Amino acid sequence: MKLDGRVAIITGGGRGIGRAIALKLASEGARVVVNDLDEEPAEETAEVIRGSGGEASVCVGSVTAEDFAGRITAEAVKRFGGLDIIVNNAGYTWDNVVQKMSDEQWDAMQDVHVKAPFRILRAAHPFIKANPTDYHRKVVNISSASGLGGHPGQANYSSAKAAVIGLTKALSKEWGRYKVNVNAVAFGLIETRLTVAVSGEDTIRVEGREIKVGIGTAFLDAAQSAIPLGRAGTAAEAAGAVYLLCVPESDYISGQVLLCGGGLSL
Ligand SMILES: NC(=O)c1ccc[n+]([C@@H]2O[C@H](COP(=O)([O-])OP(=O)(O)OC[C@H]3O[C@@H](n4cnc5c(N)ncnc54)[C@H](O)[C@@H]3O)[C@@H](O)[C@H]2O)c1
Repeated sequence: MKLDGRVAIITGGGRGIGRAIALKLASEGARVVVNDLDEEPAEETAEVIRGSGGEASVCVGSVTAEDFAGRITAEAVKRFGGLDIIVNNAGYTWDNVVQKMSDEQWDAMQDVHVKAPFRILRAAHPFIKANPTDYHRKVVNISSASGLGGHPGQANYSSAKAAVIGLTKALSKEWGRYKVNVNAVAFGLIETRLTVAVSGEDTIRVEGREIKVGIGTAFLDAAQSAIPLGRAGTAAEAAGAVYLLCVPESDYISGQVLLCGGGLSL
């Protein structure tokens, strides 16, 4: 197996793309620390991994909590004795046109999509520096087509997903010396609860807030027809793009953004 014995952290691994990434990396032999805000889906992902003979542990909590980065990196090291792959995936959207966007909405997106990955990577540094490996470690930060091209109603999210690309590129230049590849995957339209066709009432609960999600049917149809492959991607297909940046075959690729969007170009 390509990732035999590697220790991976996946944030937001309880649902959608993060869950699929955790299952994929575990199926290739990685031992996985699954994080999610919500305990039940995180435990479910870990159970599926254990049920298939893999190893997984759970680290529940918001990636935006001040103590979180220390907790999850310590969990990987204490539980599995390593820290080889970090996938910064946890996130959500909180849309509004700019004139109606609150500071709270703006800050929430920067906190979850950029500040949390920054803190996790900063917390990982001492272990990575002190424990050199003969293989390459991997960081994959999750961005979005919205961060590359901008989406209306997403000034907060687009900015944060663009910023995580800056973080990726800077860190690839700092961490080459430690044999760490740092890349980003920007997703186009992937079928998850964030992108379901709206019924008008679709909300998700994030840290005590009810947040509207989903995409209007007309917009969804237009978005799908603009995709050269003609359809949204599945979570498993999205996980495949992350996996490519975690295997040894991508050891000479760093500081790059892989657009996983069914042929979209931005
Ligand atoms: N679905 C798409 O089309 C799409 C497109 C581009 C980028 N993305 C990005 O992919 C990532 C995964 O999104 P998804 O579509 O799988 O969504 P999802 O809602 O299906 O899964 C995201 C998971 O992250 C968790 N999460 C949210 N905030 C968290 C926090 N503060 N701390 C810990 N966990 C938290 C949620 O509980 C959820 O289980 C996100 O970063 C998202 O912005 C998704």
